Amino acid sequence: MAFSPLTPVFVAIICVLIVIILKGSRKSSKKEHSKACQKTESRPWVDEDLKDSTDLPVDEEDDGGEWQGLDDNIAHIPFSTERYAEEDMVKRSKAFYELLNKRRSVRFISDEPVPREVIDNVIKTAGTSPSGAHTEPWTFVVVQDAEIKHKIREIIEDEEEINYKKRMGDKWVNDLKRLRTNWIKEYLDAAPYLILIFKQVYGRLPNGKKKTHYYNEISVSIACGILLAALQNVGLVTVTSTPLNCGPRLRVLLERPTNEKLLLLLPVGYPRKDATVPDLTRKPLGDIMVVV
Ligand SMILES: Cc1cc2nc3c(=O)[nH]c(=O)nc-3n(C[C@H](O)[C@H](O)[C@H](O)COP(=O)(O)O)c2cc1C
Repeated sequence: MAFSPLTPVFVAIICVLIVIILKGSRKSSKKEHSKACQKTESRPWVDEDLKDSTDLPVDEEDDGGEWQGLDDNIAHIPFSTERYAEEDMVKRSKAFYELLNKRRSVRFISDEPVPREVIDNVIKTAGTSPSGAHTEPWTFVVVQDAEIKHKIREIIEDEEEINYKKRMGDKWVNDLKRLRTNWIKEYLDAAPYLILIFKQVYGRLPNGKKKTHYYNEISVSIACGILLAALQNVGLVTVTSTPLNCGPRLRVLLERPTNEKLLLLLPVGYPRKDATVPDLTRKPLGDIMVVV
């Protein structure tokens, strides 16, 4: 057999090419593997029921980009608001900060009754919140019935015990240690009111089709912030709670429709005389504000 003098050169080139191709494929499979790992990274504190793509509305029953039936001929009216002297602005801003800086999450709530009118007013206040395209995608369920409060407690303690003992990792349990929380939630029976805040992931148009609720979770979260401030303003306490994986059972118990998902639960009342809170500090202004 006759060999050309160039044969060893060809063989060497082919070998180099094979090595390059093999290295390339290994790198891309490594990248895919690490991407897959990132995707499946465990985040047990993210409530399954709250994972939805409602801010990117695409499904078979969607409005399909149709006109949503909103009145685009709405009148635009003059607007004016209180104008304060600068000195008063400084005083008011300081006073409001001092009021809200006293807000704490209180897990020891007294069973002393609270006037219903106050609850109506704080919820009206929460309803003044801005919302994506003025969709007002919130429902505030106020539970005052002792039996329903107890059923809520049973559902939450059931799930929370599993969360603490099985679902959540050591990291979560350790992070919560300093707050001394556990799955026993006495305040769910004691508080005169439980306010369960549902986000409406979509609404209904007069023709029965789905109405897109843009940014519904952000909108409802802002409303909750305003509600917390309104509660603080009247001297009531609460603890912002996110009963993990309880949403569907609580929704069924409270007979809410399927477009509503539980975002937060706020037990509301006066603090117990023996209430304690963890001695937390808040970040100073320099750590939370950047001025450019
Ligand atoms: C989104 C969110 C979820 C929370 N979930 C819970 C909860 O499920 N249970 C609880 O006891 N506290 C919960 N908290 C309260 C925090 O632990 C509390 O706000 C934090 O420790 C700071 O304390 P402070 O509210 O007294 O300033 C939650 C707070 C937020 C904002």
